Amino acid sequence: MTDTPGSNNDHWYDPPEDLARNAHIPDYEAVYAQAQRDPEAFWAERARELEWFQPWEKVLDDSQAPFYRWFIGGKTNIAHNALDRHIGTWRANKVALIWEGEPGDVRSFSYWRMWQEVNRFANILRSMGVRKGDTVTIYMGRVPELVFAMLACAKIGAVHSVVYGGFSEQALADRIEDSKSRVLVTCDGAWLRGKIVPLKDTVDEAVRRSPIVEHIIVVRRTGQDVYMESGRDYWYHDLRALPIAATRAETEVMDSEDPLFILYTSGTTGKPKGVLHTHGGYQVYVSTTLKWVFDLKDEDRWWCAADPGWITGHSYIVYAPLILGATSFMYEGAPTHPYPNRWWKLIEYYGITILYTAPTAIRGLMRFGDAWPSRHDLSSLRLLGSVGEPINPEAWRWYYEVIGRSRCPIMDTWWQTETGGFMITPLPSVRLKPGSATRPFPGIEVDIVDEAGNPVPPGVDGMLVIKKPWPAMLRTVYGDPQRYIDQYWSAYRKQGWYLAGDSARRDKDGYIWIIGRIDDVIKVSGYRLGTAEIESGLVSHPAVAEAAVIGVPDEIKGNAIYAYCLLAKGYTVTPTLEQELKEHVRHEVGPIAVPARIEFLESLPKTRSGKIMRRVLKARAMGLPEGDVSTMEE
Ligand code: PRX
Repeated sequence: MTDTPGSNNDHWYDPPEDLARNAHIPDYEAVYAQAQRDPEAFWAERARELEWFQPWEKVLDDSQAPFYRWFIGGKTNIAHNALDRHIGTWRANKVALIWEGEPGDVRSFSYWRMWQEVNRFANILRSMGVRKGDTVTIYMGRVPELVFAMLACAKIGAVHSVVYGGFSEQALADRIEDSKSRVLVTCDGAWLRGKIVPLKDTVDEAVRRSPIVEHIIVVRRTGQDVYMESGRDYWYHDLRALPIAATRAETEVMDSEDPLFILYTSGTTGKPKGVLHTHGGYQVYVSTTLKWVFDLKDEDRWWCAADPGWITGHSYIVYAPLILGATSFMYEGAPTHPYPNRWWKLIEYYGITILYTAPTAIRGLMRFGDAWPSRHDLSSLRLLGSVGEPINPEAWRWYYEVIGRSRCPIMDTWWQTETGGFMITPLPSVRLKPGSATRPFPGIEVDIVDEAGNPVPPGVDGMLVIKKPWPAMLRTVYGDPQRYIDQYWSAYRKQGWYLAGDSARRDKDGYIWIIGRIDDVIKVSGYRLGTAEIESGLVSHPAVAEAAVIGVPDEIKGNAIYAYCLLAKGYTVTPTLEQELKEHVRHEVGPIAVPARIEFLESLPKTRSGKIMRRVLKARAMGLPEGDVSTMEE
């Protein structure tokens, strides 16, 4: 990564003319200006494209800001808009989801079939006593049943909390505990790089630590023997064969502001934050953004290659594509299995028209050279997308030229778990600069400011803030409203702005370049990890007294995790200790949190008030000057 964001900002890429002309929104400026004039009218117009059991009385209630509420008085259910409303139309027989497993097995579901599967799942959950407002934890691989389970929860008014399968025991236990889930849905295992990830074993250990779980539904995927506790654990295929699993289920009438899901994300403290989203505003926002940014049409085959266990998957694999009645593709496993052409082969075979992925995946595949993609006919593609971290211009150009054959504009979408949907992003009619997320979505007002809130001049770094509420904004941190205020709304309390936690700059053309996180969050392969989470994983090992974790730039992953440990009394460094600690983190926090390197130090650099100076560790790791160390303890 030799280019830095914004260093090469004079090279424009124009979208193909017919693509721009035929897009849902051929003129970004006009729509942005219209939304700006009257945001509430703009969002109301978008909301009217969906079905409501009862219309809202007021679009936005800001009387208890920052606890904003949208579409007040409206009655709806996102599962109604995602599925029910397509049944009885021609779309019932349209393919909703094509799925390919890593071993090569294929399943596909029309809207009709998916609706039936979701209804069955909803009935099963109800039979286990799950009611409106209850939370259900979902910990699964990338299989269709994960999508069904989420929608089934929404349908019956339960709140899903999906925990990404790359997290392990303690991380899962903490999330079960915080969300107070009595029912958990999992798989026996998941396929990854030809191996089985033993999800059920992890669940057993997590539930031993957080015993509030009463029932576990286990979907059979990998088929190995797993422990099943009688009276607690049930095979999904057994339940599905029972008369209770009927193919019709009533959809719960939800208030716009009723919770839809919790999604845990890393912040500055070790305790993960449960970001809460609701039915009404979220459905409006995610469907509008997908339709406009990726120009989704009936004839498209949409592939969002994220994991459904992250916000990208929630919004753009599960909810938005179904609301729009689109055909999605989903792939279970690793992009390089069995060979580095797996993705390109899938695009060719299924005729994918839009691919949405992360820079880390692009860099990872780029490493294998042009020969792999060049062997495949990728001419079905018409648009590409990127998310999760800044895309370095080299990766951007490779994606554009080698994958998109210089015909497919790249939608570089900046957003967060908290924002629910795309915030800063091009539309297909917008001219592009490699590495810039370009401009805010219509209805979104952002700025880049200094600590006092003054806009910084072009070319200067500042804090990214969002100046107006938007329908898919998080509503709170689950169970911790004070943390919601402190984290997002206290830096610019006077102005009432949302602090994104990213630094950014604008160039002379008004294009926005995201630089990176300003807090103790590290983006590793696009995954968001808190240093505190990894540190507490390390210190839970008896040999470690104290730990500090930093992110160091990495060619493929964006950042690599480096850890510095202080040993506990009585422990000495042994040749196997580093490996043992890595295993420990893998076990406790998850494979995605394993440090690339662990060093053992006699002392950690700290301020006189006892705060670890991660900045100093980072400078040392990168061989840079340590900077101002006047506050460092002797
Ligand atoms: O730092 C930004 C980075 O990812 C963070 C949000 O992470 P998460 O909540 O896990 O959501 C990721 C998927 C939406 C942001 O604060 N980020 C996300 N997209 C981009 C990005 N940085 C630069 N460019 C992007 N397109």
